[in-house]
Amino acid sequence: MAFDYESLIKDLPDYPEPGVVFKDITPLLGDAEGFRAVVRDIAGHFADRGVTKVVGAEARGFLIGAPVAYELGVGFVPARKPGKLPRATRSEDYTLEYGTNTLEMHLDAIEPGDRVLLVDDLAATGGTAVAQARLVEAAGAEMVGMGFLMELAFLKPREVIARETDVEVYALVKVD
Ligand code: PRP
Ligand code: MG
Repeated sequence: MAFDYESLIKDLPDYPEPGVVFKDITPLLGDAEGFRAVVRDIAGHFADRGVTKVVGAEARGFLIGAPVAYELGVGFVPARKPGKLPRATRSEDYTLEYGTNTLEMHLDAIEPGDRVLLVDDLAATGGTAVAQARLVEAAGAEMVGMGFLMELAFLKPREVIARETDVEVYALVKVD
């Protein structure tokens, strides 16, 4: 039976601003069985796709993306907020459910021929995922899938992502 992820994801209404319901995944991350299930479910789903790199965005994408990379036996590439990466980067601006931001990736982090899996805790508007897809494409590599712990289906992230790439979007929890 699949792990009951939803029982360990807590809703916080009106955080970080009125009208937004924040999904707190820290109880799930803090649960040994739950955390392991998340990582194994996402890694297992994409295990036969020839993934060579996992990309994850600061901050919560690191928490799930890095262990998924470890589980798949491939490298992890951080997409970071501006000014955090020390060497030459590419950058992409993106829009969030609440605000805008920029993600950067080292120029040499991904190479043509890499097969990239994007991992994050959440697909909401899809903006963060699209920014990373553009960074991967700019590096000349192929995105082979996107794995999320949660998908806020009512914000229609799949439609936004599908305008950018036709890769499979896999989410463990769908919030309608
Ligand atoms: C959150 C979440 C996803 C993103 C999803 O990141 O971790 O990365 O929003 O939203 P989207 O689909 O609308 O782009 P955020 O940058 O808010 O915070 P974090 O630094 O804690 O990851
Ligand atoms: Mg994030």
